[in-house]
Order: sequence, then structure tokens, then C-alpha cells
Amino acid sequence: MSNLTTGWPSPILTGNITEKELADEVVTHILTNYDLEFPPGEINEHNILEDEFFNTFLEKIVEPAFNEYLTKVLGKSLYDFPEREYRAWITGAYNGYNMLTHNHNGSQLAGVFYLLNETPDAGGEIVLFDPRANANRSYKMKDWGTLFEPVRLKTPSYTFAVFPSFVYHQVTQYAGNMRIAIPVDLFI
Ligand SMILES: [Fe+2]
Repeated sequence: MSNLTTGWPSPILTGNITEKELADEVVTHILTNYDLEFPPGEINEHNILEDEFFNTFLEKIVEPAFNEYLTKVLGKSLYDFPEREYRAWITGAYNGYNMLTHNHNGSQLAGVFYLLNETPDAGGEIVLFDPRANANRSYKMKDWGTLFEPVRLKTPSYTFAVFPSFVYHQVTQYAGNMRIAIPVDLFI
């Protein structure tokens, strides 16, 4: 009798945003009310969820994604955390945007909601790294590489990713027209 345990997993949930009309409304609101040359919140502490317009986005797009994650990973419902809090911002939207490696220290889960990507094959991928720092030391990559490879995700319109906030990640340079993504940190 033997048993194989997964160990210390870092699950990443990806999925599609089915509320496409709502996503489009959010994009219109952002384009009408925010200056995407200086997107709010990315390099300061601004929380776009203070704008009540985003309440429906939170309720119908963000919370179901976090709830699915918590249900699948922990067997708990998001809605069992009544004191949950969020902070959200808008990433850079134009040709040339990229983001260096970072994590979302302070929250428990990070989600990114890709509402619009006019050129989904022009970079702007999110690359998530193995959080077991230096774990690949001494392993021959040709044999063991799959245990350590970063997870690379394309970011087409109407998709999302949710992952633990401790997972370091970066965004490759976007060379397309316009890409509107909203990262949301969950504090529970
Ligand atoms: Fe991030």
C-alpha cells in the first residue's frame, strides 16, 4: 500500500467571464471616466471599488470566481467570509505595457479579470512562477523541468485567473492596441 500526496499546492484557477455584456459596460465606464495613461491604483493605494459603479462587477464577475476557487481548493464558500474586503485597480492598457515580477503581499487571493484585449496574440501574457524559491537547484531540467516550469497564460477578452497572492508573477510586454484588465485582491 502506498500513497502519493500532492504536497504544497499553489492552485491557479482560470476561466471565462460569461457576463460579457456587463464586462463591456465596465469597459465603457472605464474609458469614459478614467485616464488610462495614468491608470488608477496600479502604483498608488487607490481602490477603484470605491466607485459604486463597480458593485455589479464585483457581485456578478469577481465574487463568483473567488467563490469557485475557495470551493474547489478549500471546500469553503466565499460568502462564509462576511468581513471580506477587496482592493482593485486598472492595469496599463496600451502598447508597451509590462509588469515586472511581483506578488500581492497582504491579501490572500489575487484575481485578474481581462475584460478587453484587442490584440490577444501580441503579448500581455501573465507568467506565474513556482513559489518554492530555488527548488529547481540540482535538478536536470530535461528530466524534471515540468515540475518547475512557470505557468504562462494568454489574456484574451472575457477571461480571468485567480491564484494565491504569494505566487510571484509578471506580465510580458503588450504590443497590441488596447488591453483592459482589473486585478482584484481578496482579503479574508
Ligand atoms: Fe499582479
